[in-house]
Amino acid sequence: MKKILALNLKMNFNYQEVIDYVQELKGELKNKNVILFPPTIFLPYFIGNEYPFGAQNISEFDNGAHTGEISCTQLKSIGGTYTIIGHSERRKDQHEEDGTLNLRIKKALENGLKVVYCIGETKEERDMLKTTKILKSEIVNGLAGIKPTDLKNVIIAYEPIWSIGTGVIPTNKEIASTTAFIIDTAVNILNYKPRVLYGGSVNEKNIAELNKIANVSGFLVGGASLDVKKVLKMKETIER
Ligand code: 13P
Repeated sequence: MKKILALNLKMNFNYQEVIDYVQELKGELKNKNVILFPPTIFLPYFIGNEYPFGAQNISEFDNGAHTGEISCTQLKSIGGTYTIIGHSERRKDQHEEDGTLNLRIKKALENGLKVVYCIGETKEERDMLKTTKILKSEIVNGLAGIKPTDLKNVIIAYEPIWSIGTGVIPTNKEIASTTAFIIDTAVNILNYKPRVLYGGSVNEKNIAELNKIANVSGFLVGGASLDVKKVLKMKETIER
């Protein structure tokens, strides 16, 4: 299976920068393994390109009076096929919890969207040796009550929070053992074997080394996704 490169543009770019970015990517991403997650306001600029795209978050409601939210049907109406759910920045800034995230995942799957579900521990949790406890509860609670046949459309992104935007990355051995734990937990408790992405300070320089980790099916990239040259270098490295 092709390795995935998921690009989370977060709350970056203004109008002209998005136009330039889309233009620079044109014709470069034919393999469909690079997925773009632009800021919501710029989603329409990603319509009609050869690569899949999606939202950085999605509502658990169908439509109507939910100010500031976007629905699965709205995203689908412009051709979006993916959504990130449970990014640690949203868990922290918007106080999103596993219960709500579970409803969003269910709504997205009902609508035929593919989900990138983010999990990960803080520095404090890691220092207190709570990483596996946290990951297990995020997996079990976030994915509760979803059939294995639906779970096949859920990709798990393991993003240690202390590694996001810091340049500090776990060793390959640590990532291998944590991702093995994530896969085993999902297999044993939910009867599904997820594809697991690694996220946290991935860039065009370190991706070749990270790409050696057998359990890792791809990467969720923040900062380095803002530069098309870096994106193409990362893409080329994981496709080698
Ligand atoms: P950075 O690649 O900037 O560390 O961000 C990772 C991330 O949060 C992707 O969702």
